[in-house]
Amino acid sequence: MTDRSTILREMGLTPIWSLRDATTHRTEAPTEQRQAAPASVTESVALIEPATQPDAIREATISAMSWEALIVSIAQCTACELSKTRNKTVPGVGDRAPTWMVVGEAPGENEDKQGEPFVGKAGQLLDAMLAAVGKKRAQGLFITNVIKCRPPGNRNPEPDEITACAPYLKRQIALASPQILLAAGKFAAQTLLNRDDTVGAMRASGGHFVGIPVVVTYHPSYLLRSPLEKGKAWDDLLKAKALVA
Ligand code: URA
Repeated sequence: MTDRSTILREMGLTPIWSLRDATTHRTEAPTEQRQAAPASVTESVALIEPATQPDAIREATISAMSWEALIVSIAQCTACELSKTRNKTVPGVGDRAPTWMVVGEAPGENEDKQGEPFVGKAGQLLDAMLAAVGKKRAQGLFITNVIKCRPPGNRNPEPDEITACAPYLKRQIALASPQILLAAGKFAAQTLLNRDDTVGAMRASGGHFVGIPVVVTYHPSYLLRSPLEKGKAWDDLLKAKALVA
């Protein structure tokens, strides 16, 4: 049983966060980068080019993709304007058969450079929060975002960009089949719960996405700005943990 002082320490409410060693989860390249798609997959994705198909056909095509085809398809995607300004697509990282799946908002500057989600300050906080409940990248955890390309200047994602990227997230969730979805922030929660509501309201109610429980929590970037809210985020993580147990 975790006692109050341990909780407060882990949540950064006492002087220091117990940050994981920044090097630990990046000694290996992300799974997606390590596993080059076979030429046959690259070819078949190039041939179907989902972004040029009508929405329903594009969605059906993506909904049948393997992990490998999905990553190639995301890398080639031109379905929205973000494809013109991105450096790297950021499909996600971690265990492809996870118990937890974390869904954030969108890649930022560092993520766009590295092709991996949550690698900046917000990512360090997210890793520390997850470590506090025994979760690590690549071990029972997959981390992704609602949209896979960086919005210029880190602006909020536009509704058409979220819609264009939704089939990818949906397919990732179907392939990963996690026991719990942790929605970090408003955009993830609104997308997964299909609700136009505040984080506070969605935290309180939670919900499901294709039958999988969705636990809503604050985005780590918000927690960096509002550290006193970390206690609520801790409650959310404990809720997620209890649901899986
Ligand atoms: N914020 C997000 O929502 N996702 C990232 O990958 C990085 C920052």
